[in-house]
Amino acid sequence: MPLVRLAIQQFRNIKACDLELSSGFNFLIGPNGSGKTSVLEAIYLLGHGRSFRTNLTGRVIQHENSELFVHGRFINNDDYELPIGINKQRDGSSEVKIGGQGGQKIAQLAQTLPLQLIHTEGFELLTEGPKFRRAFIDWGVFHTQPHFYQAWARFKRLMKQRNALLKTARSYQELSYWDQELAQLGETISQWRADYIAQLKPIAEQICAVFLPEFEVKIQYYRGWDKDTPFADSLQTNFERDQQLGYTFSSPNKADLKLKIAATPVEDILSRGQLKLMVCALRLAQGQHLSQATDKQCIYLIDDFASELDSQRRTRLAQYLKQTQAQVFISSITASHIVEMQSENSRMFHVEHGKIEQG
Ligand SMILES: Nc1ncnc2c1ncn2[C@@H]1O[C@H](COP(=O)(O)OP(=O)(O)OP(=O)(O)O)[C@@H](O)[C@H]1O
Ligand SMILES: [Mg+2]
Repeated sequence: MPLVRLAIQQFRNIKACDLELSSGFNFLIGPNGSGKTSVLEAIYLLGHGRSFRTNLTGRVIQHENSELFVHGRFINNDDYELPIGINKQRDGSSEVKIGGQGGQKIAQLAQTLPLQLIHTEGFELLTEGPKFRRAFIDWGVFHTQPHFYQAWARFKRLMKQRNALLKTARSYQELSYWDQELAQLGETISQWRADYIAQLKPIAEQICAVFLPEFEVKIQYYRGWDKDTPFADSLQTNFERDQQLGYTFSSPNKADLKLKIAATPVEDILSRGQLKLMVCALRLAQGQHLSQATDKQCIYLIDDFASELDSQRRTRLAQYLKQTQAQVFISSITASHIVEMQSENSRMFHVEHGKIEQG
């Protein structure tokens, strides 16, 4: 499912560009501040409806313009070229078009265009709070469980309602009716997550063994409440504690992935370069699982390919990426870091002051 065309308008320092893409490697080469990350950010926006650098749309829209556009054409499973596009206004509103039809939802864009982003600030997956790892798990569940999105949205609504009720309820009885649906949804969502991680784990551990052969990485899923207690019982038993806290403490909202090397969290052992390789391994594992479990293929966006990696590790990553046969966008300050990845199917783009020329 590669993108074959990409048109960007009024996006950061890119006034307008229209690129014909390779279904393999696309390199974005240019000096600092030229617009390389902005191209990746535009593709990300097309797949997620938001930037990975800011939550403020106004920061992404080109100065002195009121809106931005990103359009793409991608080949779907029936070999049909499908146009997709997003327009964003300064007030944050969006218009999404798929197949020429307006009024589409951002979740549909995300379904259509699975993306994996690897960037220099992406270490948060390993070094920051569990919300980053939950987002990682849920990316996989979203793409493999068609009902996840709706179930999760409903779960979040019910949880919000429960937390509000906790503040006024005089006894558990007042919550028990609402907790029935919440408990059922919580169990379902957790089971989907557990199933997904069970499938991902062997793939991720095997790629970690290639990228970090000196370590044995162990991945464990924690569902967010006691492993031997049904969620309904946990909600009831912890009613008083939750009431004192003012919110539901133990729930799928606390789910996490524990990543360890010999019982120590990976962030306490790995160097910067090793952390980058570990993030790459996890994201590549998700992409590989997606193509095995569904008829989708994800697109990789890799910003600042060479940073933190020595030439041996770069080669290892490059070889792995080649082998996936996925579409890959790679930014780099110098072409010398990506020469070994070039082939007849790859395309090189030179980026300078927001202008992008195929080279
Ligand atoms: N809203 C905006 N309108 C116009 N220009 C912008 C806007 N936001 C950022 N810029 C400029 O656009 C350029 C985009 O830089 P970008 O981060 O894409 O560069 P890069 O090629 O990835 O650089 P580096 O190698 O340093 O990572 C910068 O020069 C920045 O100052
Ligand atoms: Mg950059």
